[in-house]
Amino acid sequence: MNSLGVFTSGGDSPGMNAAIRAVVRSGLRNNMKIFGIRHGYEGMIDGDIFEMNGCDVANIISRGGTILRTARSKRFMTKQGREKAYENLNKYGIEGIIGIGGDGTFHGLKDMINETSFKTIGLPGTIDNDLFGTEATIGYDTACNTAMEAIDKIKDTASSHERIFLVEVMGRHAGFIGLETGIATGAEDVLIPETPTDFKALVKVLEKRIREGKKSAIVVVAEGDEMGGAFDAEREIKKLSNLKTRVTILGHIQRGGSPTMRDRVLATRLGYHAVEALLEGKSGVMVGICKGSVVFIPIEDTFNKKKIVEQDEIKMMPFLL
Ligand code: F6P
Repeated sequence: MNSLGVFTSGGDSPGMNAAIRAVVRSGLRNNMKIFGIRHGYEGMIDGDIFEMNGCDVANIISRGGTILRTARSKRFMTKQGREKAYENLNKYGIEGIIGIGGDGTFHGLKDMINETSFKTIGLPGTIDNDLFGTEATIGYDTACNTAMEAIDKIKDTASSHERIFLVEVMGRHAGFIGLETGIATGAEDVLIPETPTDFKALVKVLEKRIREGKKSAIVVVAEGDEMGGAFDAEREIKKLSNLKTRVTILGHIQRGGSPTMRDRVLATRLGYHAVEALLEGKSGVMVGICKGSVVFIPIEDTFNKKKIVEQDEIKMMPFLL
């Protein structure tokens, strides 16, 4: 293995730069040629590929976003688009590919594995934390901390005005961010896709808390909850009660910012091991973390199998009210 290409794809996540840095630095230390591919699969198709040196990744470990930029590519879902991408990779003599992203990125890698002989490794980069086979994804910890800090601030105004705030966090299909930021901020409830949402029960809890003397409350709503987002939740609550509610959508703020120490270390470990894995001849796997150790999971398992939220975290929520 003499050369590799690295790209980020799908929604960006804090720590992607730290992962790119680790890949570039360890690849160079192993005398490989490293190519950066801009805008994910789009850049692969357009030939937006450039050779990287150690300086290209200097001082990026603390920066959010991705210096390689990112995109969601419809063209790579077509045979024609993929063939163009493969042609470009061959033109640059690229032998190994490291793709950093979430399930959409990994579906693309799976196509590449099926259709080519490029050695292919995935790194889990998504704030949603919803990839099977790894306890943590790059960016999840930072996103949760960002959401937690925002909710702490909302709690101040909620308490001054004695209001119920419905705070919507990201998580397209999963409640990891919702559940853990809810726990970390002492929320009255979390509405996540993994548990059935019961508005009657929620209103009962909120009214009971008010009778007991608590005048404000936080309900964290995962955007992917089966009953809809925070505005939908507010509508349902208003049908059932006279509670004074407000909605805050945290949105893309959760995807930005300087990565936390945990995300920087995670991204660096995974990036380093991705290069080592290529050098050992591994391919078709995601590098993840399980019980604190680096593990390799078949790419297709990461999206075909379902990662579930911690059940004990769900169970304890009602006991903390
Ligand atoms: O997959 C990460 C994520 O941030 C989801 O939580 C969210 O639903 C989605 O991306 C938003 O995507 P976009 O930035 O394309 O609107």
